[in-house]
Formats: sequence, C-alpha cells, structure tokens
Amino acid sequence: MNKITIAIDGFSSTGKSTVAKQLAKHLGYIYVDSGAMYRAVTWFAMQNNIISKEHFYIDKLISNLHNITISFIFNDSLGFAEVYLNGKNIEKQIRTLEVSSFVSQIAEISEVRELLVKQQQKLGEKKGIVMDGRDIGTVVFPKAELKLFMTASPETRATRRFNELISRGDKVNFEEVLHNVQERDYIDSHREDSPLIKAEDAIEIDNSTLTLDQQFQKILQLVESKLENC
Ligand code: DC
Repeated sequence: MNKITIAIDGFSSTGKSTVAKQLAKHLGYIYVDSGAMYRAVTWFAMQNNIISKEHFYIDKLISNLHNITISFIFNDSLGFAEVYLNGKNIEKQIRTLEVSSFVSQIAEISEVRELLVKQQQKLGEKKGIVMDGRDIGTVVFPKAELKLFMTASPETRATRRFNELISRGDKVNFEEVLHNVQERDYIDSHREDSPLIKAEDAIEIDNSTLTLDQQFQKILQLVESKLENC
C-alpha cells in the first residue's frame, strides 16, 4: 500500500502528539515530535549558559549549533521514540515548564529553524511519517497528503498540560501553566520566520469536546480516505 505523509500542526497542548502517536502505531509509520527538537536545542542552551531568565546570547547559540546532534531512538516499552541530545536521553528534561518558558524564544531563531527543518525533511524522505509541530504543513512538508490543524480553547489546553505536569510530580500552579500556554501561542503565531498558521489545505479539528477515541476515529477516517485516493 502507498505510504503518505501526515502533517499535524496546532497550538501547544492541543493533543497533537497523542493523536500522532496513535496514528503512527496504527499505520506502522514513523512518528516525529518536531517540538522535541526545539526543546532539545533549548535544553542545550540552558545547559551551556546561553539562555536564562536574565540573558539570551543568540550569537553564542548560533555559533554552537554544529555541536548539537539530535536523534530519536524507539523505546519499545513506551511505544514511541525518545529524543537524545549528543547521545544522551533527555526526554524527561525537555518536558518541564522551565524548558517550555524558553522554547518559543529559541524557535524564533531562523538559523535554528533552518537546521531543524532540514533534519525533519530528511526523516520524511520515504513518507510513512506522522510529524507534529507548528510549521509542518506549511514549511516542512508543504506537499503532505494529509494536513491537520488542531485547536482547543486555551483553558482546555492549560488543564491538559497542568494535569500532565502534576502527574509527573512537577510543582506548578494552574495560572502559570495557562500563562505559559497563552504566551507561547502568541510568540509562536507572531514570529517572523514560519509563524504558526493553518495551511490553506489543512483540515481543522477542534477537539475541545471530543474524547480521545472520537478524535482518533474521526482522523482515521480522513487518513483512510486519503489512502484510498492515492
Ligand atoms: O509542541 P511543543 O509544545 O513541544 O513545541 C515546543 C515549542 O517549539 C513551541 O512553543 C514552538 C516550537 N515549535 C516550532 O516552532 N515549530 C515546530 N515545528 C514545533 C515546535
């Protein structure tokens, strides 16, 4: 059967990665979390004193980009690929609210985007891939056979993110999570390079009131009709 490329974009915490993982598993496709790559660069910048609440040395980041190698290694017990920075598993470290608070600034840098977009396009050369992010249907795979744009209200998204962080044992309050979600929405959709916008041919899915299974079934129907027609 022909393989297709599935691009899933949308604001933070709209459940993109959940449905992307479900689809990849169901179809036997590769799943790539492009946000994890921006988070990995952010983690690198934090570890190397390039970014903090007080400063952001953009030139130092750009001149160090060649020292960053990001890879994904499939974890059988988790059922998805974890992200590695220079050979070290950083899956847990990159999911904190601290990384979330810096990542949109890192993702604004064109040199960072250029590097990561090239790597993402290489991962998708053979199709059979589900990738989620902010610019997948517009920049990374503009010819993807299926493009989805996920939305949900900021409160719904902050609640999901808050529950996720609490269940990991992080000490956060709802207001700061909501603030982070809204701030990232703003920066991600107003930056100059590859802002988050819905591709013209993307199908919008508002999942505020859908259960995970309802969402999966709805999207699976879209995938199946694409597969029938290609
Ligand atoms: O999907 P996420 O929340 O893990 O993404 C983290 C940040 O990375 C997000 O705030 C914006 C940025 N990002 C991006 O600019 N382009 C992508 N393709 C994916 C993520």
